[in-house]
Amino acid sequence: MAVAEKIAPGASATVYHVKKGDQGAVLDVAGFNLWYGASQALFDVSMTIERGLVTALIGPSGCGKSTLIRSFNRMNDLIENLTIAGSIVFEGADIYQSRADVIALRKRMGMVFQKPNPFPMSVFDNVGYPLRVDGVRDRRRLEETVEQALRRAALWDEVKDRLQDNALGLSGGQQQRLCIARAIAGDPEVLLMDEPCSALDPIATAKIEELIDELRGHYSIVIVTHNMQQAARVSQNTGFMYLGRLIEYGETRAMFTVPKVRQTHDYVTGRFG
Ligand SMILES: Nc1ncnc2c1ncn2[C@@H]1O[C@H](COP(=O)(O)OP(=O)(O)OP(=O)(O)O)[C@@H](O)[C@H]1O
Ligand SMILES: [Mg+2]
Repeated sequence: MAVAEKIAPGASATVYHVKKGDQGAVLDVAGFNLWYGASQALFDVSMTIERGLVTALIGPSGCGKSTLIRSFNRMNDLIENLTIAGSIVFEGADIYQSRADVIALRKRMGMVFQKPNPFPMSVFDNVGYPLRVDGVRDRRRLEETVEQALRRAALWDEVKDRLQDNALGLSGGQQQRLCIARAIAGDPEVLLMDEPCSALDPIATAKIEELIDELRGHYSIVIVTHNMQQAARVSQNTGFMYLGRLIEYGETRAMFTVPKVRQTHDYVTGRFG
C-alpha cells in the first residue's frame, strides 16, 4: 500500500515537544503495546498527557485512536484475548498493576462516546446516576450536583423545565451534552471523549467545542477526532497516529503548521486519510 510505504522506520520518535500545562502530567504512557488476539493494534506508544489541557488524537480510521483512549480507563478489559505490554501511569500509579481498582479508575476518568448513550430514564436520573451508584440518597445533594453538572455542560437552560422527562426525548446534541453532564457529575479528573461530535450537526458541534474549552482546566481532556479543524480549535496538544503508532505528538499549533514528520504533514494537509 503506497501510504504504508511512506512510513519511515522508527518514525514514532519518543521525544515530543508538547505544551506543558502548569499542573504537570496526569497520564504517562510508556512503551505501551496492545494486541487483539494475535493482531497488534498499538506499537510502543509513549506520551504524557498534561493535566488541565485538551489533548487531541487524530489519524486515519483504524490507526488505534479508540484503542488507545480506551486503554486509559481500561475499557478494553472487556474484550477477550487482549494482551498489553508497557505501562500507563495515572497520577503516580500504574493502572495495569494487578492491584489497581478498575471501578475506581473508571470513576476518575469519565468517558463520552461517539453516539450519545443516555440511559432510558429521566434527565435528572441520568445525570444523578453516578451519585446514586455511589449510594448518595440525599435529595438536596443530588439536586445541587445535577444542576451544577447540567450548567457546566451548557444544558441547564434547555432542560431545567423537563428534568423529569425521558432523556431519550432530547435532541442528539442535547443528549451528547447530557452524557457529558453525566460524566462530570461523577467528578472525574479526566474526560475521555471518543469522537463526541461525529453524530452531531454543526451547531451542536460548536456547542460541544465551546463546552470543551470551558471545561479545560477543571479536567484533563483527551479527545479523539476525525475533524482536524476541531482538533485545531479545541486542543493544546495533538497526537497523530498511524497504523498503531504515535507518529508525532506536540503542540497543536505546531502540529498543524510545521509538523516535523512528513506523514503528519500529509495527513493534516489532507493528502491521505
Ligand atoms: N475488539 C476488537 N477486536 C479485534 N480487533 C479490534 C477490536 N477493536 C479494534 N480492533 C482493531 O484494532 C485496530 C485499531 O482500531 P481502533 O478502533 O482503535 O481504530 P480507530 O483509530 O479508533 O478507528 P476509527 O477512526 O475508525 O474509529 C483496527 O485494525 C481494528 O480493526
Ligand atoms: Mg475509533
